[in-house]
Amino acid sequence: MCGIVGYAGSKEVNAILIDGLKKLEYRGYDSAGIALQHDGKLLISKAAGSVADLEKTLTGQENAVTVGIGHTRWATHGRPTDENAHPHSSCCEEIAIVHNGIIENHSALRQWLTEEAGHTFRSETDTEVLAHLIEDYYDGDLLEAMRKAVSRAEGSYALVAISSREPGRLVCARQDSPLIVGLGDGENLIASDIPALLAHTRSTKVLEDGEFASISADGVEIFDADGKPVDKEILEITWDIEAAEKGGYDHFMLKEIMEQPAAVRETLRQRIDSVNGKVTLSELGFTAEELNRLEKIHIIACGTAYHAGLLGKAVIEKIANVSVEADVASEFRYRDPLLLENQIAIVISQSGETADTLAALRLARQKGLKVLAITNVVGSSVSREADEVLYTWAGPEIAVASTKAYLTQLVSLYLVALYLGEARGSIDAETSAGLISGLKSLPAHLKTILSEDSVVKLRDYCDHLSKWDSAFFVGRNLDYPVAMEGALKLKEISYIHAEAYAAGELKHGPLALIVEGIPVIALVTQKAVFDKTLSNIQEVNARGGAVFAITQEGFEEVARQVESVFYLPAIDDLLAPVLSAVPTQLIAYYAALARNSSVDKPRNLAKSVTVE
Ligand code: G6P
Repeated sequence: MCGIVGYAGSKEVNAILIDGLKKLEYRGYDSAGIALQHDGKLLISKAAGSVADLEKTLTGQENAVTVGIGHTRWATHGRPTDENAHPHSSCCEEIAIVHNGIIENHSALRQWLTEEAGHTFRSETDTEVLAHLIEDYYDGDLLEAMRKAVSRAEGSYALVAISSREPGRLVCARQDSPLIVGLGDGENLIASDIPALLAHTRSTKVLEDGEFASISADGVEIFDADGKPVDKEILEITWDIEAAEKGGYDHFMLKEIMEQPAAVRETLRQRIDSVNGKVTLSELGFTAEELNRLEKIHIIACGTAYHAGLLGKAVIEKIANVSVEADVASEFRYRDPLLLENQIAIVISQSGETADTLAALRLARQKGLKVLAITNVVGSSVSREADEVLYTWAGPEIAVASTKAYLTQLVSLYLVALYLGEARGSIDAETSAGLISGLKSLPAHLKTILSEDSVVKLRDYCDHLSKWDSAFFVGRNLDYPVAMEGALKLKEISYIHAEAYAAGELKHGPLALIVEGIPVIALVTQKAVFDKTLSNIQEVNARGGAVFAITQEGFEEVARQVESVFYLPAIDDLLAPVLSAVPTQLIAYYAALARNSSVDKPRNLAKSVTVE
């Protein structure tokens, strides 16, 4: 999510770090910082805001220094402030670290470090515990201290550290968050992403999970988890800088689609108690009494986030046994909604800056409702003004068409539903355990859907679809909001006019538009309405429509009724919308590609709509 760069060589590190961080700003841009080894001390500069803001704080003292580390942050734990910016240092400022990822057991470690080991904390971040832990174990060998420190940390990390007592040395560790060593001539680098390396070298070594590295100007040593040296092949990078920013993909949208297994894993991380297996949203401050006397929830959002809200409505009603209304924010704020006691509002916004969503949030609060925000951006307006916040932890989303943010919004809504269901006693232990194990299986299932074979199949279908100027998405029950999101995605980026219909509504109008060969994408993942949806598919077939069905393994009957079918891994019907969204995203992407549209920046649309 954030960006890391480190350098050991003979050039002035200051400029190299700043330049590297600018190349990584697309990974996170709410604060930045650098730490340099200087005359037996560490020089640390950090600032909330962009890398350019950090540059303004530099005094010139940093010039002529040749070893250092830098970080550009996308906040998860703690607001985007100077104090929370990385690098973080130990109590005696002898050690500085930069970190990407999330330390799940940071609260317990912080408690131990302050109460038992006498450390003093300066920030609200999870990262800072690692600086103090390393200090606690430090005995002149930074790598050894890092190894001991991370053995106590649960979670994900790309971690780089320097010590004022070991001039010329950077040490690193990786678990579930990328780190790449850049090999130069008389200089070596470390970075979380390739763009930060390309100005210096194309020769790299990629660290694997559990590995450590020690880097100096004239050497790189890599060790496995047991401390044994690892001999790694050199990987030569052929991408240009633009391709590197997109992780080698042609567009940010495809990169973000492919990041969904990891994004969903991050959203779930720490929110399921490893001991009792229940959802634990410790960040939410609702009282048991508040949750029990809840009579209605208003979900409010715009665009794609609204579609997540529609699914949230269905899921919360089912699991938590409370009535939910879902509204588009621009309608909610002007329809004079009935906002009463014992109601709360949930606003959903990737950016946390959408003007209509923010206005709806203010209206709900003004009428006395407590507001929970589900957002991706720490420190955003929505997060600051809401009473409670649940962050989606999807990382920065750059393509205008939302994909990974949407999926993590959905997963967050399942977590909220289970949390409410548990608090209100409306879900039994067995059903809850089944759904939680289903949630945990999502990253692996998403990976399967994103495998090369599936993608080729969808791509082939899009050659047909892209020749049409009009298409339909249909589905019933939970498949209907997925159809709405699929249609939105397709029109946003391919400019094909796409309509979503509740399948049962076809005969009330849209059937008149079904002509020979017209593309109809049918979502068929819900057992309860399986036969009904198949009948609707027959209605389309009878008029010559070409149906492409997205269904679950085990629903093989569908294949006999349609032209082509895409199978999702079998999953609980309630969770199927998380999986079925992905083929619709890929359909939109490949249709847009076939029509040569501007995928990441569609005409007339903006990523964040801060005007009414
Ligand atoms: C714009 C974006 C959409 C997004 C919507 C709501 O229309 O193009 O992708 O769904 O705004 O944005 P938010 O940041 O509030 O989720």
